[in-house]
Amino acid sequence: MDAMKKIILTGDRPSGPLHLGHYVGSLKNRVAMQHDHQQYVMIADVQALSANAESPEKVRDNVLQVMLDYLAVGIDPTVSTIFLQSMIPEIAELTIYFLNLVTVARLQRNPTVKEEIRQKGFGASVPAGFFMHPVSQAADITIVKADVVPVGEDQMPLIEQCCEIVRSFNRIYAPVFPEPRGVVPPQGARLMGLDGKAKMSKSLGNAISLSDPLDELQKKVMSMYTDPNHVHVASPGQVEGNMVFSYLDIFDPNSAEVEELKAHYRRGGLGDVAIKKRLIGVLDALLSPMRERRAVFAKDPGAVIELLKQGTLRTREIAAQTMIDVRKAMQIDYW
Ligand code: TRP
Repeated sequence: MDAMKKIILTGDRPSGPLHLGHYVGSLKNRVAMQHDHQQYVMIADVQALSANAESPEKVRDNVLQVMLDYLAVGIDPTVSTIFLQSMIPEIAELTIYFLNLVTVARLQRNPTVKEEIRQKGFGASVPAGFFMHPVSQAADITIVKADVVPVGEDQMPLIEQCCEIVRSFNRIYAPVFPEPRGVVPPQGARLMGLDGKAKMSKSLGNAISLSDPLDELQKKVMSMYTDPNHVHVASPGQVEGNMVFSYLDIFDPNSAEVEELKAHYRRGGLGDVAIKKRLIGVLDALLSPMRERRAVFAKDPGAVIELLKQGTLRTREIAAQTMIDVRKAMQIDYW
């Protein structure tokens, strides 16, 4: 691999299938960036377990599914290294050292964690492993000395906290780590769910998975929130807050036509079914090549897991090198 290339570290929790929100938020960037960066993509099963301690089988099953999602969207295992978090114990080790550089008060203020604790209804019963996400995530990023982290906008406070940890470590011990930069999509794209009420998320049941078959996609688009007052095709409809138009804005390559459709919808005479059919076509053009690639890889799960294993072994070598630097800097390199 090219030593001049900047290093990317990124990843997802295997707690469900990846969906269009993941695609817009970061998968698209990863596919685009993988050729001129040295990219590591991590399946964050340790992080998934921190909120699913009692369902290890769910996390385990989703590891293969997320791996298939990655291959389906076009993350190329011959240029990107895909690896499994739990098989890199150096990450857990580095997390322990980083925890000394972070206060409980600072963790309590982290907006991403705060929001997730609220969403999951944890309150004060939040598992400590979940609460310290930002610290283990800093270890994920720094274990390969990453420079760049392509993530959804909601993850930015975690990158910020990672930079604080890196600065503390480098100041106190030795300049071991680069300060990573978060990369979010140009629109800051936070894809709303089908209901238009909240961000797209598997647990809220408002998501289109990358692996959804065509009939599922059709059903979901047909159920999308539009303009509840637009009951007659002939009457004027509202475009703002109408999920079908929000999605067309993001996914339809022909923005001039989308603008014309919006004008027509506002005037009246354009029905919801017509715009939904267009959206189904647009989304299927994106998802059907993914479905096909997925089906090819899914025929041989053993080979897919082997790819993950090879990526993990490569990452582990880098991780071991990083820990030599860390131990030396921290004066715990006894023998
Ligand atoms: N927190 C990310 C998520 O919610 C997953 C993740 C874990 C991650 N470690 C990471 C993302 C490091 C980027 C960098 O899906």
